[in-house]
Amino acid sequence: MRVLVTGAASGLGAALSDAFEARGDQVLRTDVVGEERTRLETTRPAVKLDITSDDDWATAREWVEREWGGLDVLVNNAGVAGGGRLDVATLDEWQWITEINLFGPVRGTRTFVPMFKDQRSGHIVNVASLAGLVHPAGMASYNAVKAAVVALSETTGHELAPYGVRCSVVCPSYFRTNLMDGMKGSDKALGTVIGQLIEGSPFTAEDIAAAVLEGMDRGDDVIIPDEAARGAWDLKQNDRAGYDAVMRKQAARLDQMG
Ligand SMILES: NC(=O)c1ccc[n+]([C@@H]2O[C@H](COP(=O)([O-])OP(=O)(O)OC[C@H]3O[C@@H](n4cnc5c(N)ncnc54)[C@H](O)[C@@H]3O)[C@@H](O)[C@H]2O)c1
Repeated sequence: MRVLVTGAASGLGAALSDAFEARGDQVLRTDVVGEERTRLETTRPAVKLDITSDDDWATAREWVEREWGGLDVLVNNAGVAGGGRLDVATLDEWQWITEINLFGPVRGTRTFVPMFKDQRSGHIVNVASLAGLVHPAGMASYNAVKAAVVALSETTGHELAPYGVRCSVVCPSYFRTNLMDGMKGSDKALGTVIGQLIEGSPFTAEDIAAAVLEGMDRGDDVIIPDEAARGAWDLKQNDRAGYDAVMRKQAARLDQMG
């Protein structure tokens, strides 16, 4: 398969790229390249792709057409951490995270849908988050954009089914990556909590990548790749009162931190 991965210089994007390559797929690794960001260092095919840039998406599509003559899988993985309580997070922070975490996958989808429709094949894999399904306090902007990616993915799957094109969405809980390096936000208490949850997670990016490939192979439209995420989603669906109690306890703990 010919696979394009965004945010492939670090974390889940790097682990997914390695996992695809290990099974013989061709991978175009893409990431933001700049002083403030991880430089994309790889001996394999790589192009600079800032997912907020229409020009970069056009360049990536030209590369794919020229070098591969088509694409089988687009993985919209790149994203940033953010959030913050409702009266702490600024509107600029909301706009920043929306531009990257929502409009990034939207731009990627819009770039490759015409090609996938012409091919009458293709698979879009959007990396959302458990936060797209369950919505903890203090994280409204992150929750909202990831829930929007869940909705985008379901819509894409329905709309492109007549063309033989699939869409899956990935909803992991916390796993250990460099995600906190790019976190922006005025809510310092939330930053501390998220940092601890990511650092203390039992899951690695490689664990999540392996589960994503298994989910894709099984034909799952919603891939919930780890036990913690499956447990939280199950709790919300089957014990709403218990779920609300857990969420409200977490909200109180965040407020106690200041
Ligand atoms: N780590 C977690 O706990 C966790 C949990 C749920 C979902 N996710 C999601 O997984 C995805 C991957 O995150 P990760 O944890 O591997 O983090 P990471 O920071 O290790 O990797 C993210 C990559 O995205 C790149 N990136 C950031 N902005 C970009 C832009 N504008 N254009 C292109 N690339 C850009 C970064 O340079 C980085 O290489 C994200 O969408 C994140 O929201 C992560």
